[in-house]
Amino acid sequence: MSLRKVGEQDLELMLSWRNNPVVRASMFSQDVIHLNQHREWFRRESAKQDSAWFLFIDANKNPAGVVYFTNMDRIANHVFWGFYAAPGATPGTGTKMGIEALDYIFDTEGFHKVNAEVLETNERSYALHKKLGFRIEGTFNDHYLGRDGYESVTRFALMASEWSDLRKGSFFRKNTLIDLG
Ligand SMILES: CC(C)(COP(=O)(O)OP(=O)(O)OC[C@H]1O[C@@H](n2cnc3c(N)ncnc32)[C@H](O)[C@@H]1OP(=O)(O)O)[C@@H](O)C(=O)NCCC(=O)NCCS
Repeated sequence: MSLRKVGEQDLELMLSWRNNPVVRASMFSQDVIHLNQHREWFRRESAKQDSAWFLFIDANKNPAGVVYFTNMDRIANHVFWGFYAAPGATPGTGTKMGIEALDYIFDTEGFHKVNAEVLETNERSYALHKKLGFRIEGTFNDHYLGRDGYESVTRFALMASEWSDLRKGSFFRKNTLIDLG
């Protein structure tokens, strides 16, 4: 399992996942995206110093998700993250991708804190953040206006020290990860 930077050659695959209704419903921008818009977006995003986009490559060497970091604040040392698994990915993909990404951002990049914003209807992401050790920092009530009306947004955070402690525990211990499949 590994992460690799998204390149031009990945854009069509990535867009096919991003436009999946389940993935779209979890995002703050829920309209269908066209390939030309996506390419433009990627050009702008690639020029930024404060964001990084990765494909998650699973144990069979197949791309199985996208995980990204934005608003990388190198002064306060905090960052936002987001992710989506390939529609139809094997259960457990979200967990494995999250572990890989958190190891990267804390151990390789040296950030102090990772933040996430999750729509209240997104039970899977909510559960995944809790599983990965994130704690709720607060709720923004009626903060997002979607097609079905207002939704609240939960702000989660995880500190580097908390992740390091979790990685020493039985489930997340580094050398046992292979057992997760
Ligand atoms: C969120 C997402 C990446 C999770 O991927 P996944 O492969 O299903 O994740 P996992 O199988 O590792 O499951 C992680 C946890 O989510 C929870 N979960 C999984 N399926 C669930 C379901 N149908 N309902 C509620 N919770 C669920 C469980 O707590 C699970 O942990 P457990 O198996 O130990 O109980 C994936 O659902 C996805 O891409 N969703 C759309 C995009 C998205 O929501 N991105 C996050 C935006 S904040």
